[in-house]
Amino acid sequence: MKLLETQIFLKSRNEHRECLTFENMKRALFQLFEYLGFLKQSVNAHGIHSPFVYNLYNEVLNTDKEYYFFGPIESLRASYLTNNNTIKKYDLGAGSVLGNSPEQNIARIACTSLQSAKNARLLFRLADFLQPENIIELGTSLGISTCYLGKALTRSKIYTIEGNPELAAVAQQGFKKLGINNIISVNGSFEEHFPKILHQCKNVDFILFDGNHRLEPTLSYFHLALPFKSENSVFVFDDIYWSKEMKEAWENIKSHPEVSISVDLFDMGLVFFKTGASKQHFKIRI
Ligand SMILES: C[S@@+](CC[C@H](N)C(=O)[O-])C[C@H]1O[C@@H](n2cnc3c(N)ncnc32)[C@H](O)[C@@H]1O
Repeated sequence: MKLLETQIFLKSRNEHRECLTFENMKRALFQLFEYLGFLKQSVNAHGIHSPFVYNLYNEVLNTDKEYYFFGPIESLRASYLTNNNTIKKYDLGAGSVLGNSPEQNIARIACTSLQSAKNARLLFRLADFLQPENIIELGTSLGISTCYLGKALTRSKIYTIEGNPELAAVAQQGFKKLGINNIISVNGSFEEHFPKILHQCKNVDFILFDGNHRLEPTLSYFHLALPFKSENSVFVFDDIYWSKEMKEAWENIKSHPEVSISVDLFDMGLVFFKTGASKQHFKIRI
């Protein structure tokens, strides 16, 4: 629902009206239609019969524990939301909903491209629960989700890749400001750096696919990552109902023979690779 929420937010501020294009309205309708379908099919705790997913529901999905560092991360987001400095657009991915101008201001990026506080906290709890050896994030942007993930891992590393050098630089300043030292920020394309980082890590426990939301690139990143997964890995795909292409990518990913459990949360989809488990798909309302 990111696009729908963004449009409501922008409309309520009576600005950036250029985002209300026919294409975007069509996309928002698609998301609304998919969301209504999701509401009908999804379950809460009562419909979960897998012990692993039931535990995940209680420890990660259905809890909202506050941590002291959530405040500083959200203050950083708030400072971006009022930052009118512009940076050059350099989007290597599926692009923005906000028109084709060659520049964007930080405030716009902060209100359209980042994980919401609710979803970023969920990512934090997921990483905290699974305690992965390492995390790779495709798509840093201003680094808000990276900060939450970085805080979940105290001993291990998080690699985050961003194609826009100016965005990567702003994000790095943010990590420094919050004193998060376990983030390795990589500036360049996913295509160039993702395979290198995968080979460097050998086993990858947690990957957040949060950029270039198109069918072919998403599937290609998934297939690149598969040989590096382990029994305990989770792959998280953001915006699985962003477009028809993303829905198709998600359907493809969850039906892959090596995926044993999929959890569809509407805003994002998680896949697990538990050996010996029979294939199960969950749609969970949170
Ligand atoms: C949705 S934003 C990431 C948001 C961020 N994870 C957060 O929630 O704080 C996606 C980012 O991925 C970057 N991106 C998209 N495709 C890329 C590619 N092929 N290579 C490198 N960066 C890319 C874009 O520049 C954009 O900043």
